[in-house]
Amino acid sequence: MERLPGFRDFYPEPLPSRDAGWSFDARQYVFDKWRETARRYGFREYDGPPLESLELFTTKSGDEIVGQLYNFTDKGDRAVALRPEMTPTLARMAAAHERNYKKPLKWFAVPQLFRYERQQKGRLREHFQFNADLIGETDPAADAELIALLIDTLRSFGLTEQDFVIRLSSRNAWHDFYQQGREGVSPSQKSDEYNFFQTIDKLERTAPEESEQKLAALGFSLAGVNRFIESGKPTAELQSILNNLAARGLHNFVKVDYHVIRGLAYYTGVVFEAFDAKGEFRAIAGGGRYDNLVKLVSGGKVDLPALGFGMGDVVLLELLKARGRLPKFDAVTDVFVLIEDEQLRSQSLKLVHELRAADFAVEYPLTPARPDKQFKRAQELKVGFTARVESDAYVRIRNLKTREEIVAGFADVANHLG
Ligand code: HAM
Repeated sequence: MERLPGFRDFYPEPLPSRDAGWSFDARQYVFDKWRETARRYGFREYDGPPLESLELFTTKSGDEIVGQLYNFTDKGDRAVALRPEMTPTLARMAAAHERNYKKPLKWFAVPQLFRYERQQKGRLREHFQFNADLIGETDPAADAELIALLIDTLRSFGLTEQDFVIRLSSRNAWHDFYQQGREGVSPSQKSDEYNFFQTIDKLERTAPEESEQKLAALGFSLAGVNRFIESGKPTAELQSILNNLAARGLHNFVKVDYHVIRGLAYYTGVVFEAFDAKGEFRAIAGGGRYDNLVKLVSGGKVDLPALGFGMGDVVLLELLKARGRLPKFDAVTDVFVLIEDEQLRSQSLKLVHELRAADFAVEYPLTPARPDKQFKRAQELKVGFTARVESDAYVRIRNLKTREEIVAGFADVANHLG
């Protein structure tokens, strides 16, 4: 039986094959860094269900994600979908219980997400995504706080300003550009602006003739659009974010880039994406403001401004591998208890158990084995110490680094394993 295309098996290291395997150790390393950095920024962890009602996603996220949904009808005849992203769930959760919390909410999650995409480099049918969101604050200081978290998360992996850049943009700037371009032209449908945004989002991945055609249908020229992008003039809002980041010494990680507009439908203001500096990989992370989503999801009952980002594990791991930033992972065993005399097995098991209770990682031979085999196993595990019960009362401890040996009282072993 093969696993489904676009899904991953995660093996403990060493990996079954150098290139093909996904490492559980590396995944855990990434999760730990995500959690550590979020904690330093005062974010609290939450989670929601991996399966939601289909409706939560169909009206809120936009056509692109709806086309990629893993959806089906469950045995109770409900239309459901595996979550393709976390933001609608978060909006639902925040709206339901916002009264219990002081604003702004600073919440993060590490959900596994599912999108029925064509499998390619950096894109799979499941991925884990670090989500950090800030709810209940309109000031651009909140946008800066979140972007600083994004930068410091990437820096926690040893990545530097030579390795990645945050491309900062604003749907407000594009909205103004759109409005000015439509002046004097017949009034546009609301969906026209969304189509315009979608065309801008795909500009870098589409042939110029095709973009030209799509823009012309909406009353714009590709040259005009490119001129606006090249000007790269920060709006007042973007300038205030840049100043805030400069005060933290983080300005070199960010550049205004109006190519970015984001594909998801719900963004309302500042938007941004993180890319590797050489442009070899797909986006590492993306996010922005979505000031209307909580209201939309709660049917108008709760109105809270919000913003956030998502960082996937797939592109990040590809980048960390390529830049040699992943540490070597080894199983950590502190002590190997040698059982050379089977008469002492019960006493040895007692020692194993007591050392584990004292928080040491302990291994021992499950079945009778030759002493040289046991010692070889201890060396393979790179343990610091071996311990051998010599009698009811004594244990011989050997430090494998210094080769020192001592005999300690049974109850005293833990004190000699430092
Ligand atoms: P997104 O741009 O769709 O945003 O995804 C964010 C990141 O998740 C991407 O930059 C990429 O690293 C990763 N990602 C997305 N799809 C896949 C895939 N099929 N395979 C591997 N990695 C993938 C969102 O999902 C927004 N909900 C983020 C957000 C949170 N906005 C506000 N708060």
